[in-house]
Amino acid sequence: MTSIDSHYSQSLQSEKIISRLNTAYPDGPNLYHLAPIDQLHIGGIKASEKLSQRLIDFKASKVLDIGSGLGGLLRVCKNHYPAFYVGLDITHKLNKINRQLNKLHDKSSPSMIVTGNGQQLPFADQSFDLIILQHSLLNMPDKISALKECQRILIPGGHIILHEVLTGNHHETMQFPVPWARHPALSHLISTRDMNDLVNSTSLTIRSMEDWTAEALSWRNRQTNKQKKPQTPVVSPSMILGSEFTLMGKNVQRNLENDAIRIVEWVLS
Ligand SMILES: C[S@@+](CC[C@H](N)C(=O)[O-])C[C@H]1O[C@@H](n2cnc3c(N)ncnc32)[C@H](O)[C@@H]1O
Repeated sequence: MTSIDSHYSQSLQSEKIISRLNTAYPDGPNLYHLAPIDQLHIGGIKASEKLSQRLIDFKASKVLDIGSGLGGLLRVCKNHYPAFYVGLDITHKLNKINRQLNKLHDKSSPSMIVTGNGQQLPFADQSFDLIILQHSLLNMPDKISALKECQRILIPGGHIILHEVLTGNHHETMQFPVPWARHPALSHLISTRDMNDLVNSTSLTIRSMEDWTAEALSWRNRQTNKQKKPQTPVVSPSMILGSEFTLMGKNVQRNLENDAIRIVEWVLS
């Protein structure tokens, strides 16, 4: 088991998640029922809905989500737009639950889920016309291999979308734990300039760069307010990341407020 795998698996309550969902939603959970656990990024389901619009813009037909986690992005995309979808994640236990969630949510044509490493992709050259990394490059130390692998499996004319966390101007104030890392050794954030240099060292081209930090902070504030109300949710991120999740959420808010981190969407081709 890698340390990343162990970060996401060590507190995972697989059976509890499935039994709670089965009991609460006998006809199957919808996208919003699943969102507290399958949208493991800053910005939640709204950010995934915004990204799904890109599939329509690019008329994508073969879509790969690298670091697909519990599959929230792919389910949202599938709901908006028909395509062939594959999710790849290094954490095998997340993939197992992702498949179970697919069965509960939509039995018809679930996405293919593969266990693998985004820095060494198990796919043939030119296999996909859209590749998305949503808060997964942040766990990858070897970003140049990750980007070169994306480039290798991308069909000419295809696109890569990065919905990622970069360092801000005050990264020295960064507080841990955060949802992607209990300690700094697992967090592999780089600056906008370094990301720019990284892309320029490949033959990929930056098509657009958007800063989503302001809306990410508004989203995080809404989550904090929700957590203040006494409630027993059917499923919650603490069933994945454990009781530390409350502190992780607070630290994300502080890190955004202090410009320790920024949330961006970059489109490459
Ligand atoms: C913060 S979670 C985001 C999950 C999902 N993209 C989402 O937004 O809900 C990061 C995910 O990236 C996966 N991951 C980290 N490093 C990876 C690698 N080298 N290859 C594939 N997946 C990786 C983790 O297992 C985890 O599921």
